[in-house]
Amino acid sequence: MRMRNKQRKPTTLHCNAGSRCTLSAVVWSLVGCILILHLYSLVHQSDGNERDIQERLNHLQLSRELEEVEEDNDFQIPPPRGKRSPRAVKRRPKRATSLIEEFLDESSQFKHLFFPDKRTAMDPRKEVEDDNHYFYPGRIWLDTDGNPIQAHGGGILYVEKSGTYYWYGENKDGPTYHAHKKGAARVDIIGVSCYSSKDLWTWKYEGIVLAGEEQNETHDLHKSNVLERPKVIYNEKTGKYVMWMHIDDVNYTKASVGVAVSNSPIGPFEYLYSMQPHGFDSRDMTIFKDDDGVAYLVYSSEDNSELHIGPLTDDYFDVTHIMRRILVGKHREAPAIFKYDGTYYMVTSGCTGWAPNRALAHAAESIMGPWETMGNPCVGGNEVLRQTTFFAQSTFVLPLPGLPGSFIFMADRWSSADLRESRYVWLPLAVGGAADQPLEYNFGFPLWSRVSIYWHRKWKLPDHWKGI
Ligand code: GAL
Repeated sequence: MRMRNKQRKPTTLHCNAGSRCTLSAVVWSLVGCILILHLYSLVHQSDGNERDIQERLNHLQLSRELEEVEEDNDFQIPPPRGKRSPRAVKRRPKRATSLIEEFLDESSQFKHLFFPDKRTAMDPRKEVEDDNHYFYPGRIWLDTDGNPIQAHGGGILYVEKSGTYYWYGENKDGPTYHAHKKGAARVDIIGVSCYSSKDLWTWKYEGIVLAGEEQNETHDLHKSNVLERPKVIYNEKTGKYVMWMHIDDVNYTKASVGVAVSNSPIGPFEYLYSMQPHGFDSRDMTIFKDDDGVAYLVYSSEDNSELHIGPLTDDYFDVTHIMRRILVGKHREAPAIFKYDGTYYMVTSGCTGWAPNRALAHAAESIMGPWETMGNPCVGGNEVLRQTTFFAQSTFVLPLPGLPGSFIFMADRWSSADLRESRYVWLPLAVGGAADQPLEYNFGFPLWSRVSIYWHRKWKLPDHWKGI
């Protein structure tokens, strides 16, 4: 019968000529394969996890190193006048009694504390074991030619493509003088210096990328004017490097910003123009480029009583009509902005000219504000160091590529008697922990993470940091 003849569908499969494998064998080999795959992915995953854990450990170790709270008894307030020997008082009747006065006193016996001499300079040409790559806040810092770095009130641009940092700042390598009896100490405009580095410690001089003007007295950059706090950002859309700076006249009444442009990070920059942004006076300033490519100008305005912030146009050559007043009535200047984990942070100084004062950290969810003040970010050292931003004034905060949450706080230790002698105070900055000052709108509950700048007499980036 047809039915009888019809063979039952075999449970065996013909795999290839001559070999027959049972269904169960196939199922088992499939299971085996799956198991092997699973095992492989587990091993792989655990490799990844191990790498993850190692990275976290490295990061922790780094944080521990950089965030160590270091006391400093070198900077001590001299004993009050009464406790000094009467003979000493007689010898120096005008001797300052506070360390800040000592700092500002040209002939202070403590000068070497604030402005150590050449013998202690950071020198990339010397191979000194255990000393290379150490940052010594306040010491003379030599470039690869052996000349002191002249990049005051500066900022850093990181060019990822080449892994190079460019440090731009005021070249103040000229005589300090007072244009008027009551005017601020000044140096003629020499220009904006640029230095390049791969490790943030060894800096090669790339020259003056925007020069002062010698002849034309009507030019913004005429040497008798003021050029301060230059900052450079790169515009991906136009392929241009754009520099913004504070432009002023000798009496600080022009109160403007200047803009310059270049095709290369090492210049030359072409000066475009100056303006009063949004029609307001503008003195200390900075620019900040956000992750989405939108850049912002922040400037002290209304006679330094408040800050203004607003986005730049797409080409970064101008401001738009959008502007917000922030930190109104707080009298802050020297703004340095950075972003971490979606929150914006800013460090500012008070307005006391070249004299140091207490820094404040601020935070905001939106860069346009509102900005809240969190208190003094300075940690360690001693009370005087903390109350004077380590005898320095903020200029820039540099994120460390590859180390999220770790930054370098860059500040200027101004030598008002001889501005070319001004020093750099670079210190580790970290974001984390609760803010230590009750905030205005949060019923005393800390909303923001604390910004901490850690004092170190000497410190270095960890060897495993990719920049070294
Ligand atoms: C400071 C300012 C410096 C410079 C100085 C002149 O307040 O931050 O950039 O302008 O005043 O006295």
